[in-house]
Amino acid sequence: MLALWCVAVASALVRGQTINTPDLHPVAGLAARGIRSPRLDDLFLSANDGDDDTCYCSLACETLAATFGGAQVSSVGQEAYDTRLNRFWSAQQAQETKPQCFFHPYDAEDISVAILVSRATQCPFAVKGGGHAAFKGASNSDGGITIDFINMVQVVPSADHKTVAIGPGNTWFDVYSTLENYNLTMVGGRVASVGVGGLLLGGGISFFSGQYGWACDNIVSYEVVVASGEILHVNSTTHPDLFWALRGGGGNFGVVTKFVAKTFKQGPMWGGFVIYDMQSTRSAIIDAMVGWGTKGGLQDPKSAMIVSFTYIQPYSSWMIATILDHAEPQAPGNHPEVFNDFFVGNAMDDSTRTTSHSNLTMEIDLMSPFGSRQSYWMFSTYLDKQLASDLVDIQREEITPIANVPGLVASMSFQIVKGKQLQGKSSKEGNALGVGKRPLLVANLAFSWALQSDDKAVLNALNNIVSRAKSTSEERGLFHPFLYMNYASQWQDPIAGYGTENKEKLLKISKKYDPEGVFQKLHPGYFKLHGAPTEWKDE
Ligand SMILES: Cc1cc2nc3c(=O)[nH]c(=O)nc-3n(C[C@H](O)[C@H](O)[C@H](O)COP(=O)(O)OP(=O)(O)OC[C@H]3O[C@@H](n4cnc5c(N)ncnc54)[C@H](O)[C@@H]3O)c2cc1C
Ligand SMILES: *[C@@H]1O[C@H](CO)[C@@H](O)[C@H](O)[C@H]1NC(C)=O
Ligand SMILES: *[C@@H]1O[C@H](CO)[C@@H](O)[C@H](O)[C@H]1NC(C)=O
Ligand SMILES: *[C@@H]1O[C@H](CO)[C@@H](O)[C@H](O)[C@H]1NC(C)=O
Repeated sequence: MLALWCVAVASALVRGQTINTPDLHPVAGLAARGIRSPRLDDLFLSANDGDDDTCYCSLACETLAATFGGAQVSSVGQEAYDTRLNRFWSAQQAQETKPQCFFHPYDAEDISVAILVSRATQCPFAVKGGGHAAFKGASNSDGGITIDFINMVQVVPSADHKTVAIGPGNTWFDVYSTLENYNLTMVGGRVASVGVGGLLLGGGISFFSGQYGWACDNIVSYEVVVASGEILHVNSTTHPDLFWALRGGGGNFGVVTKFVAKTFKQGPMWGGFVIYDMQSTRSAIIDAMVGWGTKGGLQDPKSAMIVSFTYIQPYSSWMIATILDHAEPQAPGNHPEVFNDFFVGNAMDDSTRTTSHSNLTMEIDLMSPFGSRQSYWMFSTYLDKQLASDLVDIQREEITPIANVPGLVASMSFQIVKGKQLQGKSSKEGNALGVGKRPLLVANLAFSWALQSDDKAVLNALNNIVSRAKSTSEERGLFHPFLYMNYASQWQDPIAGYGTENKEKLLKISKKYDPEGVFQKLHPGYFKLHGAPTEWKDE
């Protein structure tokens, strides 16, 4: 039973007041904005011992509902609540994670209040962009507040068309299809329904990364709500340290309420899937991939490629799916010369064509539907044909014991980080990723399956592949510690993978903008600054 004070109702918000008082107690900060309740006042006076989370979180959600009205808060039992849950990509986040409430802010001021409410009540929160992070709790708060940006979806090009301001609730399809009205686009994700927030804060690999680097390298400013509730305009001159930290540091520093990104002119482009049976084409495609990474892709930075080795349980078969793209259109039936070695004959399917950027993202979206159990893992190595081939063997060996897991689709996708994505190559401010100066093979293990009862077997296989990949590449002097946050699992530690120097720098910046560690403790999902979210236990 809830204690009486749990249902204490806050008084109405006085809108339009700004909080610019970093040292204020959160309850005083709320009171300064006209948000009060007897219980909030009690919290101010007594130490919150946090022994009854449900109760504190019901107070938090009640306070938000009283302040903003029911339309901005959805709770268990409401239709809107179920609708919002269905918009998480993985089953782990959509079906096994139940927030106390969803909060739907309109602007940075609303988020500022939500952060103060979380601090005052010690009720944790999560932040959801596109909801594509795979693991439980990453962007949906179990029992806490999930901030869901459905009302913050602006896409506004600047008057000179050189930049665009985008709200954190956008998906990449929305961004690209709006920009296409102006014959513009930007460096962003390759899958329609992925969100802008998670992708941009973790780095962002794009069809255009050969020309312009990581997506985050192309952000010119951020609007950020930090732990004090202050709203900061962050660019390379106003807050150069935070500007750097947001380029790879994830959700560790604040809630981003606006991204301003560089745009560029873009008309129709070329791309699509070319799919092969694995047996006959494997070595030719590995050769093509390494050739592209060391030569072709550097000579023609308008080209982009992903090569996936995939086991599909429903067909009991293996295939190679290549995704090839080029910023220039091609005559029907033609492909860019840089990809000659990828057309090795007898494709099972070939969807390459000239179309729009947004249309290419729709096609890939269909390959990664919502609703399954999902796990993403990753590792990095230097480029080497024999190693790439041996990694595929490791994947095959580890999949043998789980080959009958219902619905299993198990990919190892290779991408090459090179050229403009390497350290110091695309923006003078740099980023926190720590990729170094030599091309890297970045491997993303993306497994989906149907039943919870298979979790242990599937996750064991993933852990085995990653640890064997690490030891094999280490033995050959080809290992690299880079861990790409956007592809890592909850048992991996991307911040450590950025290198000691970058990690130290991120910790220092966190201390400055978030001295009490609000984004470490009250925003517990996803990747934090101190170690992997979950400790791996062999069983
Ligand atoms: C099908 C699929 C395709 C993908 N394609 C690509 C690709 O082409 N390139 C690439 O680089 N990556 C890609 N990824 C990885 C992707 O970048 C990450 O999954 C990313 O986290 C997704 O962002 P999101 O906003 O949808 O995620 P969410 O799950 O909503 O958020 C992920 C994390 O980011 C934080 N976050 C989100 N928005 C904000 C914000 N405004 N302020 C503060 N923190 C925030 C959240 O708190 C959460 O911790 C893909 C993933 C999938 C599943
Ligand atoms: C976009 O490009 C097309 C084709 O070149 C052109 O006809 C159209 O006028 C352009 N639109 C804008 C808004 O510039
Ligand atoms: C950063 O923002 C400030 C304040 O708006 C502005 O004066 C300055 O020119 C901006 N710096 C850059 C590099 O854009
Ligand atoms: C994408 O383009 C194809 C043809 O190339 C077309 O059939 C399809 O309707 C387009 N989809 C969208 C969402 O524009």
